[in-house]
Amino acid sequence: MYLANFELKDFRNFEELKINFDPHVNIFIGPNAQGKTNLLEAIYFLALTRSHRTNSDKELIRFGSKFAGLQGKVHKSQLEVELKLRLTPNGKKAWVNRLEQKKLSAYVGQMNAILFSPEDLALVKGAPSIRRRFMDLEFGQINSEYLYFLSQYRQVLQQRNNYLKQLSIKKANDLVFLDVLSDQLAGIAAEIISRRIKYIKKLNSYAQSAHSEISGQAEKLQIFYRPSVKEITPDDDVETIYQKVITSYKKNRPNEIRKGTTLSGPHRDDLDFLINDKNAHDFASQGQQRTISLSVKLAEIQLVHELTQEYPILLLDDVMSELDHRRQSSLLNYIHGKTQTFITTTDLEGISWEIVKEPKVYHISAGTISTKES
Ligand SMILES: Nc1ncnc2c1ncn2[C@@H]1O[C@H](COP(=O)(O)OP(=O)(O)O)[C@@H](O)[C@H]1O
Ligand SMILES: [Mg+2]
Repeated sequence: MYLANFELKDFRNFEELKINFDPHVNIFIGPNAQGKTNLLEAIYFLALTRSHRTNSDKELIRFGSKFAGLQGKVHKSQLEVELKLRLTPNGKKAWVNRLEQKKLSAYVGQMNAILFSPEDLALVKGAPSIRRRFMDLEFGQINSEYLYFLSQYRQVLQQRNNYLKQLSIKKANDLVFLDVLSDQLAGIAAEIISRRIKYIKKLNSYAQSAHSEISGQAEKLQIFYRPSVKEITPDDDVETIYQKVITSYKKNRPNEIRKGTTLSGPHRDDLDFLINDKNAHDFASQGQQRTISLSVKLAEIQLVHELTQEYPILLLDDVMSELDHRRQSSLLNYIHGKTQTFITTTDLEGISWEIVKEPKVYHISAGTISTKES
């Protein structure tokens, strides 16, 4: 799929933008703080209705404006889709082909985008919340049920936590009601965990081959899902996972009531990256972290393709100059002719241009974009 044209209104430092993109490679050059990341963030937002760098949509509205608008036409192999989003300080609205979508989970997935930025280094060594956010963003865009269960989970988790708090300060004592909430939450948790296990298995096999190519077969990467309910195994079905979550709630009950919060479940789960059977979290060098996160991004491209029969749009924010020639060329070989790619960079140095075929080059300055010719 590719994004053919794109319009922004009062998004970050873009007051008004109307632009056509090349179906293959688009390169944006400009000094710092001109809007390069803002542009990629906008494209990502059009796909996922979420930013990769903030949870507060308000930040995306141009200073002094009341709302922001994004619009774009996506070409897929069989059809074209028009996407539109409008952001206000009180929330967002979404349209697909001019029809308003009451549920964002019905909107997300029309367009798939994968973003790779220097912050992705944190995927390996950062906090578990970064890896959960990664799974939620990536799996949410390929499976609308995943997104749906995620939002259900957040709601019921909050209810259960509130009730545990009440129990902890002895403002409540109805354990039957806790059982009702536990049962509900475990059911949703099992749906999320089973999907995470399934997608991580697929991601693992794609990432492994990408990684072995980039590292020159020197190292073996493995990715495992690490559930906080330790009894859960990758072979469990939804029902078994549900039973194990319930058992874990029962076991943790006194602790949960004392602490007033839910101690296990998808909101506490994590991922392990192993290099040659050792946990990369503990020892991976910057270079190894970079290779792992790059391999994971390349694996996502394959995963999206396997599940949707379309290649996602690839957004590379300031990463080319961070990669050596070898990694740049394996990246570009991997995506060549498959994905529409957006690359930002402050300067052309350090990029092996001979491997980028006929890119469209734009200059970006203070929220305005011009092509070389104009
Ligand atoms: N809501 C906003 N309204 C107006 N300008 C913004 C907003 N958010 C960020 N900016 C501006 O965007 C610029 C940073 O753009 P960014 O895309 O991150 O730069 P870079 O080109 O280095 O990637 C800064 O000048 C910042 O003040
Ligand atoms: Mg930037």
